[in-house]
Amino acid sequence: MVKIAPSILSADFSQLGKHVKRLEQGGADLLHIDVMDGNFVPNISLGFPVIKSIRGLTKLDFDVHLMIAEPSKYIDEFVKAGADFITVHYEAETHLDRTINYIKGLGVKAGVALNPATPVSQLKYILPSLDMVLIMSVNPGFGGQKYIGYSTEKIRELKTLIDELGCNTLIEVDGGIDKSNIKTIKEAGADIIVAGSAVFKDDEIEKNITQLKGAI
Ligand code: DX5
Ligand code: ZN
Repeated sequence: MVKIAPSILSADFSQLGKHVKRLEQGGADLLHIDVMDGNFVPNISLGFPVIKSIRGLTKLDFDVHLMIAEPSKYIDEFVKAGADFITVHYEAETHLDRTINYIKGLGVKAGVALNPATPVSQLKYILPSLDMVLIMSVNPGFGGQKYIGYSTEKIRELKTLIDELGCNTLIEVDGGIDKSNIKTIKEAGADIIVAGSAVFKDDEIEKNITQLKGAI
């Protein structure tokens, strides 16, 4: 069963607590939290205090997507803030193997995100160590962008590689996903679908989640 991970980047931050509760009640499977530093990506979003402030409001797993330079410096703080999954970008981490092992050593699930232009083959050796690979289907930094078509081929390629290696790494896909393309993305091999604007559209969180699940 494919899981839906709403991205709180598209929430109304003045209503964040209420929105988190509505997401849980509306059928979200995990909460996708986009952290941006204004350096790795050209946008700044949120950090530790915000994550801590919502941790007590929901039982949903926190899926923390770090779009930050030198993520290894901040792993301890994200674990303390309540992360259940921590995903670092391939393009932002020089010592990926070390950082992944560090995250897992803290008892948290570890993921690697790939920018659209980064080939899946870069992960060949590290894949069995990963709990998740995040295929970015837009250039990271902003919600509400258009799905990049070749991402579907990357999902298929990753799925084939995972099956060949016999590992149980999850495939997450993030960016530009709505009810028009979610089925194709699932059929390509996605296990977790991130959706921001499609979930928060018209402030109809519950209806939008139901429609996304219905479209699969
Ligand atoms: C983009 C973020 C995404 C984004 C998804 O950098 O990683 O999680 O918020 O938003 P939509 O679904 O609107 O593309
Ligand atoms: Zn994200």
